[in-house]
Amino acid sequence: MPLKAAAHIEAMSAFALANFGGYDRPTLAQNESAFPPSPNAIAAGQDAIARSHLYPDPDWTVLREAIAQAYDVERGRILCGAGSMDLISGTIAAFAGPGDEVLATAYAYNFAASATARANAVYVKVAERDFAVSVDSILAAVTPATRIVFVCNPGNPTSTRIRNAELLRLRAALRGDVLLVIDQAYGEFDDQDPQPVFALVARGDTVVLRSLSKAYGLAGARVGWGLFPPEVAADVRKLQNSNQVTTPSLAMAVAAIEDQAYMRETVARTAAIRDRFAQDLRATGYGVPESWTNFVLIRFADAAAAAAADAALRDAGIIVRGLGGYGLTDCLRATVGPQDMMDRALRILTDQRAG
Ligand SMILES: Cc1ncc(COP(=O)(O)O)c(C=O)c1O
Repeated sequence: MPLKAAAHIEAMSAFALANFGGYDRPTLAQNESAFPPSPNAIAAGQDAIARSHLYPDPDWTVLREAIAQAYDVERGRILCGAGSMDLISGTIAAFAGPGDEVLATAYAYNFAASATARANAVYVKVAERDFAVSVDSILAAVTPATRIVFVCNPGNPTSTRIRNAELLRLRAALRGDVLLVIDQAYGEFDDQDPQPVFALVARGDTVVLRSLSKAYGLAGARVGWGLFPPEVAADVRKLQNSNQVTTPSLAMAVAAIEDQAYMRETVARTAAIRDRFAQDLRATGYGVPESWTNFVLIRFADAAAAAAADAALRDAGIIVRGLGGYGLTDCLRATVGPQDMMDRALRILTDQRAG
């Protein structure tokens, strides 16, 4: 008898990463930071490597304290993970099982679909409006089987955001037994006050997730965190591998969080490159929604135009992200990279319009 995985695991598709043929060069396909992490984080990580014979603190004590200080949140509500993916996965597995519905918006971060399949639950996609989350569409799609509503704000791959007031309206209208998960991996790029959304966690039915992979430039360190109601946190922790954030990663994360000035400068420099790139693309005739992230969504006339641009960029060694997995075959997503790379990408995209 050949070995067989559990039926729902056999049936699920693997999470699709970008197709770029190697991790040894920069790409515009992965929403990584255009800038390296804070020099303090690099030094702290190097230092911590010498302590690698010891297991890391499974309670992330120092990191939680740093996050609590920097974000003005309660230390006891914080859980950390190996990237926010770890927390997405744990939260969905803990609160949705066979037959339960996880409701997400059409262009919500696709990893939530994988996490739902792993939990053998049902992933339900709700239409967005003008590439932005629509609270009315979400509310109309809630059924008695809905256990989790998963919303990314700002969104990936859309780059758009909705107002905090809309998230508060969503929470107020959802049943109390529906867990609202608000993924704010790009939260540092949004100029809204984060406190009203963080405050939802005190209700007991809402989780807010953050990442150090974007604004802090620590994608390779794999550190995420979230605010959880204590009862929710207790169940999610049962599913987390202990010691999953390594000693060097913890040290880097603490130093990065403590260097808020460097993070803000990274965000400002990224936004400046992004906004010029987006404006130039719009001037050339492309549709580019206003971005609150470290990437832009580029809308082409049709799927053929997007594919031709993708191929022309690849020929020049610039890899962007195709969005067929989201049904957005007429769009490409370009992460903000170093200025010279963006200039080259712009020239190629301009030529595509002309040609
Ligand atoms: C919306 C969103 N959430 C979560 C993640 C995962 O981030 P992390 O690197 O913290 O696992 C990403 C990564 O691209 C993302 O775009």
